[in-house]
Amino acid sequence: MKIGIIGVGHIGGTLAGLFTKADHQVVISNSRGPETLEDLAEELGDNASTGTVEEARDFGDLVVVSIPLKAITDLPANGWEGKIVIDTNNYYPDRDGKIADLDSGKLTSSELLENQLPGARVVKAFNTIWFEHLKTQGDTSLPLEERRAIFIASDDSQAKETVAKLIEDIGYAAIDTGFLREGGKTQQPGSPIYNKELTAAEAAKALTAGA
Ligand SMILES: NC(=O)c1ccc[n+]([C@@H]2O[C@H](COP(=O)([O-])OP(=O)(O)OC[C@H]3O[C@@H](n4cnc5c(N)ncnc54)[C@H](OP(=O)(O)O)[C@@H]3O)[C@@H](O)[C@H]2O)c1
Repeated sequence: MKIGIIGVGHIGGTLAGLFTKADHQVVISNSRGPETLEDLAEELGDNASTGTVEEARDFGDLVVVSIPLKAITDLPANGWEGKIVIDTNNYYPDRDGKIADLDSGKLTSSELLENQLPGARVVKAFNTIWFEHLKTQGDTSLPLEERRAIFIASDDSQAKETVAKLIEDIGYAAIDTGFLREGGKTQQPGSPIYNKELTAAEAAKALTAGA
């Protein structure tokens, strides 16, 4: 699959490594320009190249946005129609500044991103796992129920299926927390499943128990 990655720090960079190893093609980007990412692209090998944010967006059948939440207002306002967008982001007021619509509960952080990217099919994923775990805990040799769970939420069931398949390609199992709003709340920092090392079987039980 062709994947654009916007933000290649701890999480975006780790995903770039996992996706290229699983034989997906990535274009990596950041705010400072492609020339700052040449070394990383070389490290990632033949399945990786660099681009601007717009080029990463245009390249991807699927685009990962993995940047500090406060930076989402810098993203291009168009060109997202029909794109599946994985939102790895979390709201941390100390880092991102206070955002009234999030503090009041009017919106979740994924809905904020969705509003910023008109036409995008946003799937929240990879936001509840620490990047060091993401790097090492995937295992394609395990049956799905024994793999570590990656929680996903979206209003678009087809987009969710595509992301679930990608998650399986890199050795994890996708666990559905529901629509973007409800699932987004279930997955947000401080929630019972946030940063918990759960297998898919344990995760399904935790959600049934009302996590
Ligand atoms: N760290 C974790 O374990 C973890 C786990 C789950 C979720 N998350 C969430 O995932 C997101 C990314 O976290 P991270 O830890 O990977 O952050 P990070 O290591 O600080 O990386 C952020 C990346 O975003 C790029 N960036 C910043 N502003 C940008 C902009 N305006 N346009 C394009 N690229 C931009 C940065 O590069 P330049 O500054 O060069 O542009 C960098 O590549 C955050 O929302 C975080 O809360 C993190």
